[in-house]
Amino acid sequence: MQSKWVGQWSVVAVFFAALLIISSYLLLPLVPLPWRTAGSSELYLTGVLGAVLLLMPGVYALVKRSDNKAPPRTWLIAHIVMGVSGVIVVTIHAAGGWSRPPAILLFLAYLLILQGAWARSVGSAKLARVMSSRSSALRSERPVDKDALRRILADKTSLLAQLDPSADEATFSPGLGHWIRHPILAYAYVRMAHAEAMIIGARATVSRDLGNWRRVHLLMAAMLVGGIVVHVITVTFFAGYVADGGPITWWHLAAWGD
Ligand code: HEM
Repeated sequence: MQSKWVGQWSVVAVFFAALLIISSYLLLPLVPLPWRTAGSSELYLTGVLGAVLLLMPGVYALVKRSDNKAPPRTWLIAHIVMGVSGVIVVTIHAAGGWSRPPAILLFLAYLLILQGAWARSVGSAKLARVMSSRSSALRSERPVDKDALRRILADKTSLLAQLDPSADEATFSPGLGHWIRHPILAYAYVRMAHAEAMIIGARATVSRDLGNWRRVHLLMAAMLVGGIVVHVITVTFFAGYVADGGPITWWHLAAWGD
């Protein structure tokens, strides 16, 4: 099942990347000169807009962790729409410069979107399978240690009473506010929740898998944000180095590296 998904997504990824590269080569000669000249003010502003759109999903991640009550689905849709439109906008900004060093950022952004989409479809399918499997099927994987489970649940409930007395143990996970106000309690709670998931074997496997996907996604996103910061610093302060002897056509503060 999983290898089928991998196969499908790899085909989509290769198709998507090839389509973008080929269409930018075919369409580029047809667009007005400023829109195909890297560093023009039109493309500069497009880059700024693209970077803002790409950074927005990070805001989603923070809002989700805070005590905000906005419906998570709305935030998730905003996260996906901003990320995908950001990638389209920065593709225009790059003006077909696929062989230039910042193109690494573009490929990283494509990978991030594909990995996010893949994690969601594979992860959700797995979760759905576990949720819909009969309890006998789950029991046969590993017997649940009911006493240990009962002890952990009691500990979790009493810890939660100190961490957030109004919260419900069944749906609670520490938000940004909890981590800031009670970091030690929040950490202890997360460890207990993990131990609980380990006792319920099937759930532990799913949450571990989803956790790994999430970590990869966050790592790639952090690399992209770091790369954008480096790119902006380079074009702003090392404009001479970036222009490589040619004219510096964009807004910059210094031309170091001339
Ligand atoms: C505030 C945001 C940004 C600013 C101010 C900015 C600025 C610039 C400038 C001035 C250039 C022209 C330099 C040159 O001629 O090589 C450039 C090129 C480029 N930028 Fe950005 N950029 C931004 C965001 C991004 C983002 C988010 C990406 C990708 C994820 C990106 C990818 C590229 C690529 C691939 C090129 C190479 C185009 C070429 O040289 O042919 N940029 N950027």
